[in-house]
Amino acid sequence: MTKEGIHVALLGLGTVGAGVYKLTQRQKGEMLQKLNTMLHIDAILVRNIEKHKDEVDDPKVLTTSFDRILEDPKIDIVVELMGGIEPAFTYIRSALEAGKSVVTANKDLIADRGGELLQIAEENHVELRFEAAVAGGIPIISPLKNSLAANEIRRIMGIVNGTTNYILTKMTTEGMDYEDALAEATALGYAEADPTADVEGYDAGRKIAILATIAFHSRVTFRDVYTEGITRITSKDISYAKTLGRVIKLIALACNTPEGIEVKVHPMLIPEDHPLASVSGSYNAVYVDGDAVGDVMFYGKGAGEMPTASAVMGDVFSVARRIAGHTQGATRDNVYRSIPVKRAENTRSCYFIRMEVEDRPGVLATIASIFGNNSVSIEQVIQKNKIDNNAELVIITSNVKERHIKDALLILESSSVVHQVATMIRVY
Ligand code: NAP
Ligand code: HSE
Repeated sequence: MTKEGIHVALLGLGTVGAGVYKLTQRQKGEMLQKLNTMLHIDAILVRNIEKHKDEVDDPKVLTTSFDRILEDPKIDIVVELMGGIEPAFTYIRSALEAGKSVVTANKDLIADRGGELLQIAEENHVELRFEAAVAGGIPIISPLKNSLAANEIRRIMGIVNGTTNYILTKMTTEGMDYEDALAEATALGYAEADPTADVEGYDAGRKIAILATIAFHSRVTFRDVYTEGITRITSKDISYAKTLGRVIKLIALACNTPEGIEVKVHPMLIPEDHPLASVSGSYNAVYVDGDAVGDVMFYGKGAGEMPTASAVMGDVFSVARRIAGHTQGATRDNVYRSIPVKRAENTRSCYFIRMEVEDRPGVLATIASIFGNNSVSIEQVIQKNKIDNNAELVIITSNVKERHIKDALLILESSSVVHQVATMIRVY
């Protein structure tokens, strides 16, 4: 055991910070056996001490001064759980430069400036770990970097946002309204401080950028990811999906193709018997396809206080063991390729298109010819409902280029026989 134990500072005591604090207390009994040292939380940075003083055993650990943490030579590990880009970036950079290792759950920051921070960690011979930044409690970053390191990763596909999966599950299984389901997900601590990041697919976009960078050894940032959220999905789409034997899920996808990296987040109709279809509520799942291992799937709770704290604490334990064993080394970025990212319009998929059209003879032929003229062939047509004097039409296309479907939809939207193209969802 090290003489002093390992000293930790938390930045933030919200959903995840409180979980990390509780888990540290819960683990005290066996910490010595597990780590060969003890962890001490010496400081917790908050904005308002009064608000948090009943959440900790000793309110003296609470501080509003990051400098108190930075300037304390005893602090070995800084755990950043505030979220956002600033001041998180400045605090993490300063901690690394001061020779302190850092653990964070901040995907916004890692997806945007992770490369820069890893470089600073390497230069200062300290560690920067971020397992909790992707898919909450599921171990996925460490398996990609370690257990699967000898594979050429070809594809990653998954559900990596707990909030949207919770909303879609509630809308599908209980007929709940979108707004009510979002309010529940927020109350349960799954949503981001601004839930726009969840429902517009940005949070999943940041996570798939992080995974793609690690898996393909080539820098992929959030700006490279095509994102589409769930805000336009209605109970009607969910009901049509059911008719087609499918469920709607927000899917994050990264493929390393000969033409470049394809990286996207969007809703998708998944067959009911596909393993991702049964991933419900706040659960996440990530499929990884490697050339040696084949398909592996990681499954578990993707958000929430204790699942996320589990991932954070796994990183803290790893760093603590290395400090205690005097084997602490720098974290390497391992980005050594420069693969271009494919434009979304050059990717392919089948599409579900729901539209309101004129209800008169010849309309279907007009629509079919617009699709045909744009190299889009139709697999299936469903005409079920009437809306006033209009017909509701659902078309499923064959596997086509995104550019062709977008061209066809532009022409359809300006055509006199189409009143509205209500939804376009990709089909697995
Ligand atoms: P949260 O509940 O909003 O907590 C944030 C905490 O940070 C609060 O205690 C807040 O203080 C503190 N804070 C924010 N800005 C600060 C500043 N400038 N100075 C001092 N303290 C500051 O957020 P969370 O859900 O725990 O998420 C934390 C991080 O984990 C985010 O990066 C998030 O994306 C990530 N994450 C969350 C989950 C999840 O399920 N919630 C899962 C995986 C990853 P006050 O309490 O005083 O406002
Ligand atoms: N808001 C995120 C989610 C938290 O819902 O998945 C976990 O990263």
